[in-house]
Amino acid sequence: MPATTTSIIQGGMGVGVSSWQLARAVARAGQLGVVSGVALDATVARRLQDGDPDGHVRRALAAFPDQAMAARVLDRYFLAGGREPGRPYRPTPKLALRPSRHSQELAVVGNFVEVWLAKEGHGGTVGINYLEKIQLATPAAALGAMLAGVDVVLMGAGVPRETPQLLTDLADGRVGGVGVDVAGAPERYRVEVDPVDLLGSNLPPLTRPRFLAIVSATVLAAYLARDDSTRPDGFVIEGPVAGGHNAPPRGTMTLDEDGEPVYGARDAVALDKVAALGLPFWLAGAYGTPDGLAAARELGAAGVQVGTLFALASESGLRPDLLDRLRGGLGSGTLQVRTGVRTSPTGFPFKVAELDGTLADPEVYEARDRLCDLGYLRTPYLTRAGRVGYRCPGEPEDAYVRKGGDLADTVGRMCLCNSLTADIGLGQTRPDGYQEPDLVTLGGDLGGPRRLLERHPAGWTAAQAVAWLEDR
Ligand SMILES: Cc1cc2nc3c(=O)[nH]c(=O)nc-3n(C[C@H](O)[C@H](O)[C@H](O)COP(=O)(O)O)c2cc1C
Repeated sequence: MPATTTSIIQGGMGVGVSSWQLARAVARAGQLGVVSGVALDATVARRLQDGDPDGHVRRALAAFPDQAMAARVLDRYFLAGGREPGRPYRPTPKLALRPSRHSQELAVVGNFVEVWLAKEGHGGTVGINYLEKIQLATPAAALGAMLAGVDVVLMGAGVPRETPQLLTDLADGRVGGVGVDVAGAPERYRVEVDPVDLLGSNLPPLTRPRFLAIVSATVLAAYLARDDSTRPDGFVIEGPVAGGHNAPPRGTMTLDEDGEPVYGARDAVALDKVAALGLPFWLAGAYGTPDGLAAARELGAAGVQVGTLFALASESGLRPDLLDRLRGGLGSGTLQVRTGVRTSPTGFPFKVAELDGTLADPEVYEARDRLCDLGYLRTPYLTRAGRVGYRCPGEPEDAYVRKGGDLADTVGRMCLCNSLTADIGLGQTRPDGYQEPDLVTLGGDLGGPRRLLERHPAGWTAAQAVAWLEDR
């Protein structure tokens, strides 16, 4: 099914919730299956250190066009039989403006593996989702996904104006890059990847994937559509009930009595204006029901992007015990989702499922010593010495302040990198035995999942979710 006529996009949910298993199941069911493109360098390295028990990663690596590069990754991380109990995962390189060769290779390989596995054994359509906020990761990640023949790239959490050109450049075998904001620097920097330098004569011909921009404001859609160089192939219009990160309300942020952001008329997207741009669009955020799909079509949309319903499907990357607890809470009506305005180091509101024993539990939050060793949400800044440094308001407070950050920015921040990685069974074990806690995000509207649970009390597969959405 061509990517622009698909009626259901399965949301790209990080870290690894939109696993290759989930995306493959949705693509097989005839809709657009999407893998999350966040932190695939660390997750491939950790899967290899867990011994790659089913051999999936190694099978994908055997199909990688540059076998010497695949062997370097394998040699560095693969542990036959997995880690000894209690042994921490080996660190992976942090994102940087001038990434090391190994860092780029790991990102390329990790993205290749996830897309290759999602596409294996069927002719369906597979996309990958990136976050514009994580600018430093994008060029190498996109190259890896394109080497595996990704059909669609989706990007939200920012203004993805340079992504169309990046994809075109990479498809032509040219150096591709994006601008990077460096706090305190008068000019923008650039992070790039050079396909020829990395793969040499092993570089196969690449196809340019389609690009869908995930936006939450009419003006942003209009801005991106205005120029050939920034125009996406379509939009996902995401409202504030969607899972994961949300765009903040426009204007000054007002909070309700529960401390959640209040959205108003100014936040509504004018769909007639979006339709007038002439590009296909999908609606996201509480549209994951058969009636939601019908309503979206009536509003002129090509279809819907659905997250929560698929996050709770059997093929989701969430750890089985978390999935059980979430489905249990759904069935008993006790599962609550809140919007945290301070939770995410990005500063964007972030949806949090209120589960005991996770970082949403104040005791668990207080007990965690801050540290920043994955660093995907670090942002570059100019040091007093004129060099580029990196900081994250979720890191230890003193380090953040030493780097020129404002102490007030650190309050309430959670380490999304470590906790979201823990959610998919790849959480770090510290040398003292401390296990990184989970933090689960879901959409704010649980009506669809609740209805599907009534139909499938023992849980549902992605294909069953698709069939229900299609009203079959
Ligand atoms: C667990 C989870 C993680 C998510 N992570 C991301 C992400 O990394 N990037 C992104 O663009 N959207 C992310 N989303 C948003 C979804 O892709 C989708 O747009 C949204 O969930 C749709 O709303 P719904 O959950 O009401 O169906 C996430 C959603 C969930 C539930």
